[in-house]
Amino acid sequence: MLVLVKGAKTRRPRRPEPHGPIPFGTALTTLPRMSAAVVVRAAVARARRASLALPRARRARVHAPWSTPPPRAGTWTRGARAMASAAAPPTLDPADSRFVTELEVLAVRAPRRAIGGLMHALKKHTLARPRTRKVVHLPPDGADGEETSLILLDEATCAPGADAETLPRSVREAVGLSAEVRGEDGGSRDSAKVELITHVLTLGYDALSAEEALRRVLPSAVTVPTGFETAGTIAHLNLRSPEHDAFRHIIGAVLLDKLPSIKTVVNKTGETGGPFRTFAMEVLAGEGGRTEGPLLSRATENGVSYEFDFRNTYWNSRLGTERKRLVDSFTSEDVVLDLCCGVGPIALPAARVAKAAYANDLNPDAVAFLRRNDARHFKRTGARLAGITNMNARDCVAKMVRLETSSKSSSASASDGADGADDSETPVRHRFTQAVMNLPQESLDVLSCFRGAFDEETWPPRALPRINVYAFSKAPDPEADVGERAAAALGLEPTPDALGDPGTVQYRRVRAVAPGKHMMLLSFRVPERAAYGAAP
Ligand SMILES: C[S@@+](CC[C@H](N)C(=O)[O-])C[C@H]1O[C@@H](n2cnc3c(N)ncnc32)[C@H](O)[C@@H]1O
Repeated sequence: MLVLVKGAKTRRPRRPEPHGPIPFGTALTTLPRMSAAVVVRAAVARARRASLALPRARRARVHAPWSTPPPRAGTWTRGARAMASAAAPPTLDPADSRFVTELEVLAVRAPRRAIGGLMHALKKHTLARPRTRKVVHLPPDGADGEETSLILLDEATCAPGADAETLPRSVREAVGLSAEVRGEDGGSRDSAKVELITHVLTLGYDALSAEEALRRVLPSAVTVPTGFETAGTIAHLNLRSPEHDAFRHIIGAVLLDKLPSIKTVVNKTGETGGPFRTFAMEVLAGEGGRTEGPLLSRATENGVSYEFDFRNTYWNSRLGTERKRLVDSFTSEDVVLDLCCGVGPIALPAARVAKAAYANDLNPDAVAFLRRNDARHFKRTGARLAGITNMNARDCVAKMVRLETSSKSSSASASDGADGADDSETPVRHRFTQAVMNLPQESLDVLSCFRGAFDEETWPPRALPRINVYAFSKAPDPEADVGERAAAALGLEPTPDALGDPGTVQYRRVRAVAPGKHMMLLSFRVPERAAYGAAP
């Protein structure tokens, strides 16, 4: 017979329920509903909660008055803004009683000998909480003294109080609720000893998600920040609201503690800007200089691993999919020139796909990391960049075009780049077939460097490269807008048609960076009139 009973709290041995098991459908002919039992259980739960004087977990926030315990050495250093105020930043104390939480879950109780098989059957629907056991062994209970255990079930798919019909099939089968396993007598295979019960867990800090932990330590008036981005091993928040100011360090400490791959949590304190597209940030928790100095991160994207200084070079994990899409569009016949390569997330995977890939960036720090990333990538895959330069994209285009021209008769090499380093053994052997410009603020203007840059002998029309240029547009018709601006920069009449046959010009809305503002990708082959026309 299937029974539904109240469980005991994890830390205490299970005591017999004062009200006894609640019978649950002894002679079932249709799939049972739990509603009657739920009513009883709800009453029991209310009584239990009242006696414990603790709010039901996941429904109510536990907000004790905010206090500022003395800072503990090594937890973090005080932030600049915190220093300005008299109060020390609050610290994270996992033993803080505010984290103690009661959580009701559904559990399958069964003889201990049956737990292995049941765990296998229920594996997709067991409780998934950090540092929390899925199985709880209970002391011998009842007349036969048999040892029983509980398999705790997933909170989302097996919520206490849910209709039996809505439980996952494997759970229904395990406890004999499924019509398919019910025998002719209405009983199930081994259901006499397998019960579905509610069980109250006492959770501490370790078992809470970051959001749950923050709910419990932030004052009720303070919104729990839920959004953050990652840049490899760095999580970055954008806490702008004054309400978070006093709590930003504890927010950082909880995130650092709860996100296993994160080594540093920072808060963005300035806008993305400057030629290198970086922003000011403050380290809230973890490794790295608090407001200045290199802030190292490691990321893996599209099978390539990168190291970079997040404070002084550009990285945006959100562009990973777009970068993959672009690299996937290259073929083994292509020679790729990434003019604004950052630390290499387009150029390095392109080196694997294409015949050759060249990379350039204006930021010397980015180029330094690019070199390291290229060397590591080469060691791992055997693919390496054909040339690395540290110069303005315009100069790089001129150089690459010229080097191609002169390479027919001289020994010009990509090592002529402004960084003056390495690559001396890497003569330019290829005309580039694909140029990439991911500098959306100004790439369309930079396009003018392709105007009149090509001589027809070295670059016959069929050899003119494709340009893949990213740009922002706030226009209602962003395709027409970037098409017109690109044509104008190339010295053509400012219409999208001027870029070539519409079948060869491609536009993609990459993402909305703000309401009404799109990041666009425009791909087209340099039109002959622009390539061989007068330089600006
Ligand atoms: C938006 S980031 C893109 C970096 C890289 N492509 C990526 O996806 O991570 C733009 C890059 O262009 C570089 N940059 C800015 N102005 C430049 C210029 N005039 N010439 C070459 N690179 C430039 C910046 O240093 C930065 O690394």
